[in-house]
Amino acid sequence: MKNERTFVMIKPDGVQRGLIGVIINRFEKKGLKIVAMKFVSVTKELAEKHYGIHKGKPFFKPTVEYITSSPVVAMVLEGINAINTVRTMMGKTNPKDASMGTIRGDYGQFIGRNIVHGSDGFDTAEFEINLWFKPEEIANYTRIDEEWLTE
Ligand code: RTP
Ligand code: MG
Repeated sequence: MKNERTFVMIKPDGVQRGLIGVIINRFEKKGLKIVAMKFVSVTKELAEKHYGIHKGKPFFKPTVEYITSSPVVAMVLEGINAINTVRTMMGKTNPKDASMGTIRGDYGQFIGRNIVHGSDGFDTAEFEINLWFKPEEIANYTRIDEEWLTE
């Protein structure tokens, strides 16, 4: 298990439905450290880069439209196994298949309104963090509970 950083986004439906607080609270309570965060009105250009891997797929255009339709919360979370931990906490891509207890399982109903994004691997995390944040927007600090979080 290693210390990792991952890119997380609360999508427009999460913001519009007033879920910013509960979602951030879950990550904080798990022990993931917020090292960067901002509120962003996503441009088409940024959205197309972010979802560039899906270019040519039928859901590419609607997904770009979805993500640019209203502001999002973009953040970088850090912690042991952060990439997989966030993916597990989000649940399956389609909220109707996501387990209860996950963010998508608890709050979502449709694949095109799945509330949250998290990087799916180490290379993706690096790409997405660099795409969304400048190095100086990422903070290096120690959280006071860190020694109680690990064994
Ligand atoms: P994300 O990238 O947003 O964290 O989601 P994911 O890894 O779980 O899923 P991915 O396959 O990367 O798909 C990216 C986003 O595109 C939309 N989508 N729609 N209608 C469809 O079949 C479909 N498939 C994917 C979703 O918003 C998904 O989160
Ligand atoms: Mg993905």
